[in-house]
Amino acid sequence: MSVLEVDDIVVEFDTDAGRITAVDGVSLHLATGETLGLVGESGCGKSTLARAIMQLVPMQRGSVRLEGTDLGSLSRRELRRMRHRIQMVFQDPRGSLDPRMNVSTLIGEPLKVHSIGDRTSRAKAVAEAMELVGLPAAVADRLPSELSGGQQQRVGIARSIVTDPAVLVCDEPVSALDVSIQAQIINVLDELRDELDLAMLFIAHDLSVVRHLSDRVAVMYLGQIVETGTASEVFGEPRHPYTHGLISSVPRADAESAARLQTARRLVLGELPSLLDPPSGCRYRTRCPYATAECAEAEPAPEPVGPADGLHTVRCHHWRTIVSAAPEPQESAPSQELAI
Ligand SMILES: Nc1ncnc2c1ncn2[C@@H]1O[C@H](COP(=O)(O)OP(=O)(O)OP(=O)(O)O)[C@@H](O)[C@H]1O
Ligand code: SF4
Ligand SMILES: [Mg+2]
Repeated sequence: MSVLEVDDIVVEFDTDAGRITAVDGVSLHLATGETLGLVGESGCGKSTLARAIMQLVPMQRGSVRLEGTDLGSLSRRELRRMRHRIQMVFQDPRGSLDPRMNVSTLIGEPLKVHSIGDRTSRAKAVAEAMELVGLPAAVADRLPSELSGGQQQRVGIARSIVTDPAVLVCDEPVSALDVSIQAQIINVLDELRDELDLAMLFIAHDLSVVRHLSDRVAVMYLGQIVETGTASEVFGEPRHPYTHGLISSVPRADAESAARLQTARRLVLGELPSLLDPPSGCRYRTRCPYATAECAEAEPAPEPVGPADGLHTVRCHHWRTIVSAAPEPQESAPSQELAI
């Protein structure tokens, strides 16, 4: 059974230049012990989706069900009571930690906020959370400024698991960290998922990390999920031209040096359209090498690929015909600097 069910979320923002739809009809689900990786270029709506799931931004449409409860139907008070079951790990550990609190106070704070347990049981839960994320007891009295970046993020993760959540939403939890520390933090999250049976939504730039960590993957483009499936389906048999583009731009595993990864982010897919004036029909058509007149006229709906088990879906009119003609990696094509 799904512990998290997200149905048809729409989030709009009023900006100085006009109204934008940052998340446009996104649905997803997560089972206990499962990791869903969410990838897509900067500005495609990943963080907004995460914040909408967390009920931190208002939704114009759609619903979020956590363990069967529709979060949108709850009063503020009821929502506060549910919040400990869904927690978030942020990109910048430092920015999310109060610099005046020491490590044990920081980790225990969510228990206090949610009025969980008494002093003794909270101290025990803090010690357990520290152990689970690999923080030595000796750092309990330190301030965030006295910790390394990796330790700060371990504190951020400990804070998010101390309330015994069912779902963990991780928004680029390692992108602010040194490359050398990233793998350690990824491993911490992976182990926690197993040990605590968490359902995890994992947002990341780095496709190799997503591939390593995720059971399923969702690829997002201009507010919509354009392809989703198991990690092996999406990475091994990508059907959407955008997924092809993302994967083709990543260096092969034999050359994962920092410099190569940097190159990978110089994507070759042309300019990202403005959300103020998104393309008609298929939103990817202005960059798609296979676009036809039909693509400008009608918006493709998600279609099941292969057996209609609903796991692998793609939003493209022509996926059946273009799949055998996947574009080659285009490292030499005119490039646009994009932070994916
Ligand atoms: N509070 C806000 N008010 C107005 N516009 C916003 C707000 N938050 C996000 N946006 C806009 O919504 C769009 C999606 O932003 P979002 O931060 O969700 O993208 P993202 O995929 O997380 O990008 P990144 O990879 O850079 O983190 C962007 O155009 C952004 O400028
Ligand atoms: S619907 Fe058309 S424009 Fe969109 S991805 Fe498919 S082929 Fe390309
Ligand atoms: Mg973001």
